[in-house]
Amino acid sequence: MSTAPTDLEENPDRLVPDFIAHWVVKTARSAEMIAWYGTVFDARVVHEDSQIAFLTWDGESHRLALIKLPAPLRHAFPLARFRRKTYGIDHLAFTFASVTRLLLTYERLKHAGITPVWSINHGPTTSLYYEDPEGIRLEFQTENFPSAQLTADYFNSKEFADNPIGVNVDPDYLLERLRAGTSETDLLKPGAGTRPGTKPRANKQTLTWKTL
Ligand SMILES: [Fe+2]
Repeated sequence: MSTAPTDLEENPDRLVPDFIAHWVVKTARSAEMIAWYGTVFDARVVHEDSQIAFLTWDGESHRLALIKLPAPLRHAFPLARFRRKTYGIDHLAFTFASVTRLLLTYERLKHAGITPVWSINHGPTTSLYYEDPEGIRLEFQTENFPSAQLTADYFNSKEFADNPIGVNVDPDYLLERLRAGTSETDLLKPGAGTRPGTKPRANKQTLTWKTL
């Protein structure tokens, strides 16, 4: 069985976009956005004027641009942050190289007063969802399986068909287990983030107004 080429290295002549570069947000909360991305991504502003700001946090010239709208407009679209709950782009996802890095970031952000709106072991990934000051949802994830092939196998399993959404996790409990010496492999197993004595919420039970 052949597998499709997955990246530029394997098929340099395939004429499709090579990688994601940045996204751009029209915002009436540019100061809050710059502060939030500064905390969460350690983003630095590479250019800012009265109309626009460009931010980056790695080798890309900019990862995020903010088109500044007049501040009073923040009250003009009271339902804007709920749009993603019903239609259009739902979230952007960012991968952490390990569950340890994901959990230590969770702890760092918690100390800064930034907490996830949803924490779940999806099966293929362990994911913490955050929302920026405009309500744009960002998924911070780490892979639960060590290879893409094992993830693909899981997508084809009965276990995934029976529960394609996953099991909620308590990130504080995962952090306690990490500190107690539990292996990363064990922390990534379904149910690993359910604190003893609490009821696991799985599949559609995980969906609430907050998490949706
Ligand atoms: Fe996702």
